[in-house]
Parts: sequence; structure tokens; C-alpha cells
Amino acid sequence: MPREINSVAIVGGGFMGAGIAEVSAVAGMPVVVRDLPQFLDAARGRVEKSLAGAVKRGKIDQAKRDEVLGLITFTPDLKDVASADIVIRRSRRSSISRCR
Ligand SMILES: NC(=O)c1ccc[n+]([C@@H]2O[C@H](COP(=O)([O-])OP(=O)(O)OC[C@H]3O[C@@H](n4cnc5c(N)ncnc54)[C@H](O)[C@@H]3O)[C@@H](O)[C@H]2O)c1
Repeated sequence: MPREINSVAIVGGGFMGAGIAEVSAVAGMPVVVRDLPQFLDAARGRVEKSLAGAVKRGKIDQAKRDEVLGLITFTPDLKDVASADIVIRRSRRSSISRCR
């Protein structure tokens, strides 16, 4: 039986994770992005840069950009992904990833 997905969590806010976060939030879903503390600013920056491009190209307006960004929570805490309807892993399979 199909189940509705109303919230998304992504482990890894890199190229793929940030993109999935953006499209999910544009669709109106609350999103949690978990990354290592030192990479959280970069994750947010990826989404902000992409949204700025969308505003510039006239795909979305500034209000939508603010709404989308407001739906995304960036966190270092793995526990924060637990309540999402779906958790998507988009972190690299490196030794660093595996040991944390
Ligand atoms: N980029 C692509 O086109 C592509 C295509 C298919 C599959 N993939 C796969 O998707 C995954 C992500 O790819 P990407 O290009 O976004 O990589 P990326 O290097 O841009 O991003 C990986 C992110 O994971 C984070 N990370 C590492 N360990 C973590 C942990 N323990 N918890 C949370 N975050 C952690 C890193 O800080 C980084 O921000 C990889 O496994 C890759 O092989 C990528």
C-alpha cells in the first residue's frame, strides 16, 4: 500500500544531498540535512547559491526562496533525522564517514 511522504531527511549535504534538500523543500516538505559540523555552512551555502540562481532566472521569487530555505534545517545531530518519513543517505563511503 502506498505511503505518503510528508517530510525528508538527508544524511550528507554535499552536491547530491543539497540538491535533494532543495527540490524537496520547493515541493513544500520540511527537510532535515545532517552533515558533519564543519561542513554544515557549506551545505547551506550550496542550497542558497542554487536558490539565488533560481531567483535570478525568474523560476521562483524572493518570497518562495525564503519559504524554501525556512523549510530546511541543517543539523550535526544524527538524532534529528529520526522523525522524517524517509531518510536518504548521500554521504560518501569514506573511512571518515564510516567511523562517525
Ligand atoms: N554526485 C553525483 O553525480 C553522484 C551520482 C550518483 C551517486 N552519487 C553518490 O552519492 C553520494 C554523495 O555524492 P556527492 O556528490 O553529493 O558527494 P559530496 O562529497 O559532494 O557530499 C558528501 C557529503 O557527505 C558529508 N558526510 C560525510 N560523512 C558524513 C556523515 N557521517 N554524516 C553526514 N554527512 C557526511 C560530507 O561532509 C559531504 O558534505 C556518494 O556516495 C556518491 O557516490 C553521486
